[in-house]
Amino acid sequence: MGHSSGRGGIWLSKQDNTECERFLDKPVIILGVFILLVSLAGIVGSCCKVSWLLWVYLLVMFLLILLLLCFTIFTFVVTNKGAGEAVSDRGYKEYRLGDYSNWLQKRVKSDKNWNKIRSCLQDSKICQRLLDDSSSTKVQDFYKEHLSALQSGCCKPSNDCNFQYISPTNWTRMPSSSQANPDCSAWSNDPNTLCYNCSSCKAGLLDNIKRDWKRVAVINIIILVFLIIVYSVGCCAFRNNRDGWK
Ligand SMILES: *[C@@H]1O[C@H](CO)[C@@H](O)[C@H](O)[C@H]1NC(C)=O
Repeated sequence: MGHSSGRGGIWLSKQDNTECERFLDKPVIILGVFILLVSLAGIVGSCCKVSWLLWVYLLVMFLLILLLLCFTIFTFVVTNKGAGEAVSDRGYKEYRLGDYSNWLQKRVKSDKNWNKIRSCLQDSKICQRLLDDSSSTKVQDFYKEHLSALQSGCCKPSNDCNFQYISPTNWTRMPSSSQANPDCSAWSNDPNTLCYNCSSCKAGLLDNIKRDWKRVAVINIIILVFLIIVYSVGCCAFRNNRDGWK
């Protein structure tokens, strides 16, 4: 059981569709390793009939189940809010930072975190890939494209800026263009800037994180049920055998 949970943590961290979410992975891996160690204590305790080790195991396991339960509830609460918004006559959705939970927003609003994520996004070539696919796409065809959350948020200016399209990552400011959205002035045609400083880019990242965490929460529930069953069995066995072990 410890093994599967430990591997679960590492498996989950490999599932990222973007490397750039790594900054949230550490707790998951630490939890997996911790469960592994506790399980080892349980196995050693029961094999070698070390009574105190089993007590420690049962106590820590109980706390762990509580912790995992809280963590799972937290994950559901944090990923409850936020979704891409459909834009009329566009194949892609747009993403607004304010739609996501405050806790997640704080994570990406921190300059320290965002600087790391931004350089990761710049290296990841998500916007370059958009150009490879459709650098000569006509504007009508580009508007019909399905873009990933990160591509929509980070690689093009927001729809309400009313910029004129030249290529997916090259847009011209028009006299009629709006500046109401702060993202509009954050936009630059420089391939290293684009909309990487936009809040829509942060929202696009949060949309990915949200989807991944939903998956984590479901896996957590399965692990929880499993842990509770194993724990109950362990408790009963310990109670029944206690007299024989003195
Ligand atoms: C954007 O397009 C204009 C007009 O075709 C061109 O002059 C400019 O170099 C392009 N900018 C970038 C960054 O590709």
